[in-house]
Amino acid sequence: MRLRVATCRTLPEIDVDAAPLAAALAAHGFSAELAAWDDPTIDWDAPIPTILRSTWNYALDVVGFLSWIDRVSETSTLWNPPAIVHGNVHKRYLIDLAARGVPTVPTRIIERGTTVDLDELAADLGSQRLVIKPEVGAGSLGTRLFTIGGPPTNPTPHAHLASLTSRGAALVQPYVASVAGYGERSMVWIDGELSHAIRKAPRFVGDIERIEGPFPILADERAVAEAALAPVADQILYGRVDLARDEAGAPMVMELELVEPSLYFTRQLGSADRFAAGLRRRLAHAPS
Ligand SMILES: Nc1ncnc2c1ncn2[C@@H]1O[C@H](COP(=O)(O)OP(=O)(O)O)[C@@H](O)[C@H]1O
Ligand SMILES: [Mg+2]
Repeated sequence: MRLRVATCRTLPEIDVDAAPLAAALAAHGFSAELAAWDDPTIDWDAPIPTILRSTWNYALDVVGFLSWIDRVSETSTLWNPPAIVHGNVHKRYLIDLAARGVPTVPTRIIERGTTVDLDELAADLGSQRLVIKPEVGAGSLGTRLFTIGGPPTNPTPHAHLASLTSRGAALVQPYVASVAGYGERSMVWIDGELSHAIRKAPRFVGDIERIEGPFPILADERAVAEAALAPVADQILYGRVDLARDEAGAPMVMELELVEPSLYFTRQLGSADRFAAGLRRRLAHAPS
């Protein structure tokens, strides 16, 4: 069965999932081809099941990406489904998670073209160290850490915020110190259940990705990850919940990745196989 594995023309970094996924897909009878979402020479109207994988530059053209999502899903089945993708590209979903009672990193949205007094916001959030990042982002693009009232920086926090809000909405969060020690923990979800957890080192703009693991999924992490995914659990093929711990040690959601998360297949034996099997089963019930 033919399958398109969506990537992008210029990968910002190596896709560590590509090789194990290709092997698992082949073992499950797929004839998979890599297809860059931003390649206009591809016939995207051809009905070929498509999975989103390394489409990592989409934040640079989110409008184009979402219209590509709509175009592909018009004639082809797409995982994750288009409605899930639409709901996940803007990080304001964090506000909805928090409203649903899921522990979440405190987040303020600064709308496009607006500004905010960062001294007041720091006081309000109870932290002089603030992370300022674009509302649509991947790979730490545009994500910077500042100390409000600290030594001068280039850019200044206000200048960085202004440069983000000139293009789109921005997020301001208190810096969560546990990312440096315990680490950000990514809970990988594949085909109906949590599969494995890995640890990510802190990463700001310009840093490379460094991961370790697998680590055991602790009970409190499982509870938060499952609560975050509950409304979409039966609609997604894959997902990832990135957690950090608050000052009291309780896990909270830093990011919910339902578009094109790395799933770190090499870290968990059999996980790429589960992905391929889950896809196969879904396609058996899908129109194309
Ligand atoms: N509030 C925060 N506290 C501490 N570190 C953060 C915070 N927000 C982001 N980071 C760091 O920046 C990285 C990228 O931010 P994230 O929200 O995961 O966006 P993306 O992965 O989509 O670029 C995180 O993996 C983490 O290392
Ligand atoms: Mg992230």
